[in-house]
Amino acid sequence: MRAFIAVDLPGVFADQATGLLDALRAGVAGRFMPRENLHVTLTFLGDVGEAEAAHAVGAVERACAASGPVVLEASGLGTFGRARAARERTLFLDLAGSPGLSELASAVRAELGRGGVAYDEKPFRPHVTLVRRARFSQGALLDLPFPLLCAAQSVTLFKSTLASEGAFYKPLFSAALRQGAVEK
Ligand code: 2AM
Repeated sequence: MRAFIAVDLPGVFADQATGLLDALRAGVAGRFMPRENLHVTLTFLGDVGEAEAAHAVGAVERACAASGPVVLEASGLGTFGRARAARERTLFLDLAGSPGLSELASAVRAELGRGGVAYDEKPFRPHVTLVRRARFSQGALLDLPFPLLCAAQSVTLFKSTLASEGAFYKPLFSAALRQGAVEK
């Protein structure tokens, strides 16, 4: 199965991100993510078997036990993909102002490595994908309601199933981040 590990968005943050998506609809065309698909990917595993999935569960458990709640701080919008290939751009909510996320991603990846589970080693870029195949003019991205800073509380191992109408993400295992001081 295709799997990835992500930080779950707190309800209030997901609500506000949905408000942002609604505001974007006025000036952006593309494949808008449904609320239930919003998350911050920490690491993408690709295809894994049962043994690797079991190791991934352990990695999530151990990384969460060692890390407190993590601040999510929106710092604007960003895009992946070549600017000239306008239909291939992915529009995302940038969480570059949230260093705790990078530490959590490193912790999860280190635990995966110890369990011998391979993952996509592209450098971590904290973000929430909002619109795939986004088409817009820069003017459409002004005066937007960004989610307010809040603390994420949990991490989930997801199974991803690709379909013509978009991906379906099924949570397989979730762990709460250790209670205590919020990691900036
Ligand atoms: P995203 O984080 O930019 O949305 C499931 O595919 C999730 O893993 C998506 O959230 C996706 O992108 C993320 N992801 C990260 N690296 C990926 C890769 N190499 N291939 C597919 N999805 C990847």
